[in-house]
Amino acid sequence: MSKPRLEGKVALITGAAGGIGEEAVRLFAENGAFVVAADIQDELGPHVVASIGSERVSYCHCDVRDENQVEKTVNYTLDKYGSLDILFSNAGVMGPMTGILDLDIQGFDNTMATNVRGVAATIKHAARAMVARKIRGSIICTTSVAASLGGTAPHAYTTSKHALLGLVRGACSELGAYGIRVNSISPFGVATPLSCKAYNLQPSEVEANSSAIANLKGIVLKARHVAEAALFLSADESAYVSGHNLVVDGGFTVVDHSYSAN
Ligand SMILES: NC(=O)c1ccc[n+]([C@@H]2O[C@H](COP(=O)([O-])OP(=O)(O)OC[C@H]3O[C@@H](n4cnc5c(N)ncnc54)[C@H](O)[C@@H]3O)[C@@H](O)[C@H]2O)c1
Repeated sequence: MSKPRLEGKVALITGAAGGIGEEAVRLFAENGAFVVAADIQDELGPHVVASIGSERVSYCHCDVRDENQVEKTVNYTLDKYGSLDILFSNAGVMGPMTGILDLDIQGFDNTMATNVRGVAATIKHAARAMVARKIRGSIICTTSVAASLGGTAPHAYTTSKHALLGLVRGACSELGAYGIRVNSISPFGVATPLSCKAYNLQPSEVEANSSAIANLKGIVLKARHVAEAALFLSADESAYVSGHNLVVDGGFTVVDHSYSAN
């Protein structure tokens, strides 16, 4: 029997009440981690934790827009499980769906507050805890194909995910001195509450739309596939991987969709 990939490690996952974050909570727990699942959905979050039914997983309310709550959540993790080895900073919102000519500036600010400022606060407090305890931890942020391509998502979202890539690279540069790795994951469209709500579609319709424009055929991207990428970046098998943007997009961002050689 090989040992579980995250045996004994402590992970904090934000945006853990649904979608990709929920899948990561389940997968990390299956792989031997202690997990704090953080979110603002205080009915759904504890429900996810209860459905896993393990002492190794607990829920903590955390609105990443509020730095105090982020600091408290990091402290809760340290008190509860005695360490913090992995931060999966995954909470995000789609933000306003309007075009640039009708840009909702308040909505733009709110999107940046969650997707960029909120993630920065989680990196700050998780990294402080890791540095203070000499933990060579792993920090992972969820970006998107919209982190490197325009025209695939609304403007506030695209802007926030481009910014997040910069934040990941800057943090990678500074935290390398402490042995802390910082990476991102850029998924293609997945059927989650975020995408279903934004486009007012059922999961099967989101999947059909994504599959129609996908580069990689014969497979539908699921939240589980994204969680698997987070597991890889959390585990020791990626011990020398830092500053990487792991695309989980079936090649979507590297091919020219208007060209066919056949
Ligand atoms: N679904 C997709 O197609 C897709 C594609 C690329 C990237 N992403 C990214 O994946 C991440 C997870 O999204 P998802 O698709 O699983 O959606 P989701 O809506 O299921 O999950 C996002 C979670 O973040 C939580 N959240 C929102 N604001 C928060 C805040 N201020 N503080 C704490 N938690 C907050 C929500 O309550 C929710 O549970 C996001 O960063 C999203 O941008 C999603």
